[in-house]
Amino acid sequence: MDENDGGQRWWHGAVLYQLYVRSWLDTNGDGYGDLPGIIERLDYLSWLGVDGIWLSPTMPSPDQDWGYDVSDYLGVHPELGTLADLDRLIADAGARGMRVLLDLVPNHTSTAHPWFVDAVTGRDAEFRDYYVWADPAPGGGPPSNWLDATGQSAWTWHEPTGQYYLHLFLDSQADLNWREPAVHREFDEIVRFWFDRGVAGFRIDVAHGLYKDAELRDNPPAATTDPLGGRFGQEQTYSANRPETHGVFRDWRKIAESYQPPRLLLGETWVRDLATLAGYYGHDDELQLAFNFPFVFSRFTAQDLSGVVGATLARLPAGACPVWTSSNHDVGRFPTRWCGGDERKVRLALLVLATLPGTTVLYYGDEIGMTDVRVPVELRRDHMSRQGTGWDGSRDRGRTPIRWDASPSAGFTADGVTPWLPVGDAADQNVASQRDDPASVLWFCRSLLALRHAELRGAIAPYELLTADGGLWAYRAGGLTVAANLSDQPAALPGPSGEILLSTAAEPPAPGEPLGPWQRSEERRVGKECRSRW
Ligand code: GLC
Ligand code: CA
Repeated sequence: MDENDGGQRWWHGAVLYQLYVRSWLDTNGDGYGDLPGIIERLDYLSWLGVDGIWLSPTMPSPDQDWGYDVSDYLGVHPELGTLADLDRLIADAGARGMRVLLDLVPNHTSTAHPWFVDAVTGRDAEFRDYYVWADPAPGGGPPSNWLDATGQSAWTWHEPTGQYYLHLFLDSQADLNWREPAVHREFDEIVRFWFDRGVAGFRIDVAHGLYKDAELRDNPPAATTDPLGGRFGQEQTYSANRPETHGVFRDWRKIAESYQPPRLLLGETWVRDLATLAGYYGHDDELQLAFNFPFVFSRFTAQDLSGVVGATLARLPAGACPVWTSSNHDVGRFPTRWCGGDERKVRLALLVLATLPGTTVLYYGDEIGMTDVRVPVELRRDHMSRQGTGWDGSRDRGRTPIRWDASPSAGFTADGVTPWLPVGDAADQNVASQRDDPASVLWFCRSLLALRHAELRGAIAPYELLTADGGLWAYRAGGLTVAANLSDQPAALPGPSGEILLSTAAEPPAPGEPLGPWQRSEERRVGKECRSRW
């Protein structure tokens, strides 16, 4: 495919795979997954059928927030490997037709970053204005009511220089001042540095948050208590989602498009309102992909899911590519959140994720239906949730090592080494046992990705809702017709008119028969003969 032809891009209809590096494969026995471990298992990802890999943060960091507190934007965390390892990973993935995306954290740096270390030395320090400093409010105390991710004030007093600095996350993650032109120049260079090395794009952390209100006005109370409804009872009206942020993405988009093939900008756009989400695509001149959190937090019902999908597609500007995902390192795993561990539901969720038009992002372990792991308090490693909680308990539950096999270390690290987070004990949720079983979730997922490749790749396929009544969600996406019964009741199919491909091991319903509870079917209209089944 000519990458520039008709505006098509490699991520249209593709599957990205979010890989949490520390939980993938430990090759040097320190209990942490590492870059050589990814290289070692590239054949697995290629067998599975992913098109691109997004790596959780790889840059040097004191790890107060596991790499989301960067101390050097141009390096590789020594615990994870070297720059040479990353170059090799990009080359070896490329040789298998897979691209590599890095996680870029432009909203804040670690307070150990040399810029911040300099900034605290005095009000006239060279890098002082790289950060958001402010005097106390007129009556004393923090300059605004903004809260950080632990529920405390987002302002920390710096006694030696007599000002507050801003941190929307931990107090060791100081927010950058995007009103300072030098910050733009620094990031232009950082972005080019990685693109020049063959990085295919970035997942952009806290993409909605870069600019803050120039007057630092107080945030109003939140209108709702849903997970996207602000923070600790506050709407993030003035501490995020400021209009100036769009200019940053327009600049980076120009840089991204100046490369061959064009590089990808995928934003973590943590917003509730789909119109705001759509705004991050700009006029096809900002982010090419923006994560859809209303979909992530949708209830797992035909009505809600089809509602979000329909509303999203109606909102996005023409030609914009939607993104579907439901697990990540913050929100946990969908096999738990959506499916309560029920394998029938996991298969349905995978079916939906794999057949919606646009880009699908799977989280490592989704393909084996891996559920959250209960991590006892004393073993938790996530400082953010340990400190209080803006999050639903500990985020560690969704960050545990992938289970390669049924051994005590799950094949993640050497026997006798303590993994950085416990591996849990679900004996059947491991790659080795599922790979030996063609009826497993893993094989099911792989078949779906192959189907996606064959039917949806290289375009943003049209979507047509057939029904979302009575628990049944049926739609057409490109040449596929998908029917998912998301209910405990049998559901009548909306007039099948071709070959029904059942994805359960159970017998397919005879023509005209209803779909059983939590069953699904896919109809493929490719010529008149199509009999593959799984
Ligand atoms: C994003 C990341 C999250 C991190 C936060 C601060 O939300 O996904 O893991 O803690 O930003 O960087
Ligand atoms: Ca290691």
